[in-house]
Amino acid sequence: MKRLLIVLIITPLLQINLFAGEGMWLPLFLQALNEGEMQSMGMKMSAEDIYSVNKGSLKDAIVHFGGFCTAEVISGSGLLLTNHHCGYRQIQSHSSVDNNLLKDGFWADGTQEELPNPGLFAKFIESIEDVSIPALAGVTEAMNAKERQSIIDKNIVEIRSKYDLKEFEEITIKPFFHGNQYFLFKTVSYYDVRLVGTPPESIGKFGADTDNWIWPRHTGDFSLFRIYAGPNNEPAAYSPDNKPYTPKHFLPISLDGITEDDFTLIFGFPGRTNEYLPSNAIEQMVEKTNPAKIAIRDKALKIIDKYMRADEAIRLQYASKFASVANYWKKWIGESQGLKSSGAVAKKKAFEKDFQSRVNKNPSQKEAYGDLLNQFEKEYNSIGDLAYANDYFSEYIRNVELLKTANYLKTLAKNQKAGNQEKYNSFKKRLTPVLIKFYKDYQPSIDQEIFAALSQMYFENVDSKHINPAAKEKLLRNGNSYEKFAASIFGQTFIKDESKMMATLDLPMDEAVKTIEADPLFQYLNEIADYHKEKVGIPKNEIQSRIDVLMRKFMKAQMEVFPDEKFYPDANSTMRVTYGQVKGYEPRDAVHYNAQTYLDGVIQKYVPGDYEFDLPKKLISLHEQKDYGQYAQDGKIPVCFLGTNHTTGGNSGSPAIDAYGNLVGLNFDRVWEGTMSDFNYDPSICRNIMVDTRYILFIVDKFAGASHLIDEMKLVRPKSAPVISKPATKVMDSKLKNKRRRKGVPRESKHVMPETQGASGGGY
Ligand code: ARG
Ligand code: GLU
Repeated sequence: MKRLLIVLIITPLLQINLFAGEGMWLPLFLQALNEGEMQSMGMKMSAEDIYSVNKGSLKDAIVHFGGFCTAEVISGSGLLLTNHHCGYRQIQSHSSVDNNLLKDGFWADGTQEELPNPGLFAKFIESIEDVSIPALAGVTEAMNAKERQSIIDKNIVEIRSKYDLKEFEEITIKPFFHGNQYFLFKTVSYYDVRLVGTPPESIGKFGADTDNWIWPRHTGDFSLFRIYAGPNNEPAAYSPDNKPYTPKHFLPISLDGITEDDFTLIFGFPGRTNEYLPSNAIEQMVEKTNPAKIAIRDKALKIIDKYMRADEAIRLQYASKFASVANYWKKWIGESQGLKSSGAVAKKKAFEKDFQSRVNKNPSQKEAYGDLLNQFEKEYNSIGDLAYANDYFSEYIRNVELLKTANYLKTLAKNQKAGNQEKYNSFKKRLTPVLIKFYKDYQPSIDQEIFAALSQMYFENVDSKHINPAAKEKLLRNGNSYEKFAASIFGQTFIKDESKMMATLDLPMDEAVKTIEADPLFQYLNEIADYHKEKVGIPKNEIQSRIDVLMRKFMKAQMEVFPDEKFYPDANSTMRVTYGQVKGYEPRDAVHYNAQTYLDGVIQKYVPGDYEFDLPKKLISLHEQKDYGQYAQDGKIPVCFLGTNHTTGGNSGSPAIDAYGNLVGLNFDRVWEGTMSDFNYDPSICRNIMVDTRYILFIVDKFAGASHLIDEMKLVRPKSAPVISKPATKVMDSKLKNKRRRKGVPRESKHVMPETQGASGGGY
């Protein structure tokens, strides 16, 4: 891997251990690139067991959950495991004051009680192919970005046309390595995905924002869904007649869990990383853009927090919004600190020096790449202020709820201007439920205070040449007081008022837009937004597209200049494998973190009545009585653990798989000090956080009493009787299993299926 070179020269032996962990690998190249290293780290499976197009493999148990998270199949009847925070919206949508699934949890007592979720899908990967050659056919270096793209677009249409797709099958073709390669993903999606179970928030979101991105962690961040299929197990839209899906493979669950240094593999759909950027980009992020984004959110969060603490009703209204603003605010702070303390810029600079001197020694490389770093320097110098103004502007709009809402109205006005009644109607139809939800949890007075504060930050911290002078004049007319300015705009706007808003939308299109355009807040948004687009957005995008071209060349150059290195493509929401080991870490001098937390630690954090750290009585009493069933290790219930697996947003809900192919954990977060791994993976400090499966089983069985779900799963003890959990094509009929249960086979002992060599590769 790129930065590894420097270390490699100094300490050739240390390198393997130091860097094992970095990388989000394409499943189809595991055998060529990773299998050896994975096995040397303790893995007992082959690459073919993980990803195969010819036979069942681990990949057949992994789904892209709703397109934003990962989930995995854990029973022969399509039971799906993902995070609580991934299923949050569905759980919330089934909740009401009288039937609050978020607060009380939910456990369907049999399939007839499982709750459908319109729109939610589970997408399997059927196959992955390298289509770089046909996708890039006819493309030359001399072409400009536009010519190049139009050829690629045509090639992609051509590639697609060769596939005969069944209903619910899709083809996705995406660029990799910054446009140097293209891969095709053939997928099949199941659209009937029902909610099966969830712990209460006091377990599933225990520690909430205070503990978010933090180790030691004690959150049971999981929920259970089930995939349903139509006739013949085929994908189908929701129907009450659909039956639980029979998977090609499901993950057995290990009761033996993990210990420090155990091999772990994470399979999932990481969203976005940028590991190959030049030092200038990182410098700009650390010095300019991250601090700006953090400062704006910091301000907004402080105001919301003040009101949330003073009023319980407001706390309920704002908790979820607060969490979503706070999530990346906190991440960016950790990321900036990590980039600084790990010397990421200096490391990149040292790498670039090495790169340049190698390039200079090779005439053809010098010709092709000799000037790349200079060009980056030039482009980043000119994009700096624009990137800053752009981030400032978008955070300003994002954090003032009414500006964000007015922004939707711009789309209505645009459709009206284009005379497109149909588009106007369809956008209005989609907007209405969004607005209803927005007003339900909206407090104009809080928003007004945020508007005043963020307007002040925007006017004071963004170069005046990037802000419309007309907006500034409005402020001056209000005595140069941001409070008066905010009071005046909020006093007049109808957008803050639900009934006026709905009445306006009920008007015929032209009249509605006339009313919208007469609104002072809408006018203010247009003034700043149009000016911003012209002075910041467009010029910034022009530079960015030149940087993209440089990036494509730089990526290619790195691969050519260091031909012996292994490169992994940046994350782009496609299926990846990452692997590492269970490990603690040292966040700062004299502090060591263990890799595992226990239920005792959950109880230590308990604050009765607190909105983040309250606990259900039942959990406390299970702990008091040490009623742990088969899920304890050395008399304690494991809760969360750490690994060196390289993950990012989108890996939430990803399975952590042991050396044999069994589920040992559920990925849901990273440690704060290591969130920089999106740009600079540092093995000494980058850790992913997983819920231990034994905690999940304990909660399902002992806390919720949902032992029928445990019966569906396949619990194994690989450490006592190791067997590679080879995917099978035949799975045991779940009805048959249920029948057996009803015959009164004692439950707890029966859950563990004795593992023998014969069981592997057969049926479950
Ligand atoms: N930090 C995790 C992620 O990026 C968890 C977020 C959900 N939890 C929360 N407390 N906001 O998605
Ligand atoms: N919580 C993140 C998610 O929702 C995963 C944590 C991370 O960014 O690594 O995908």
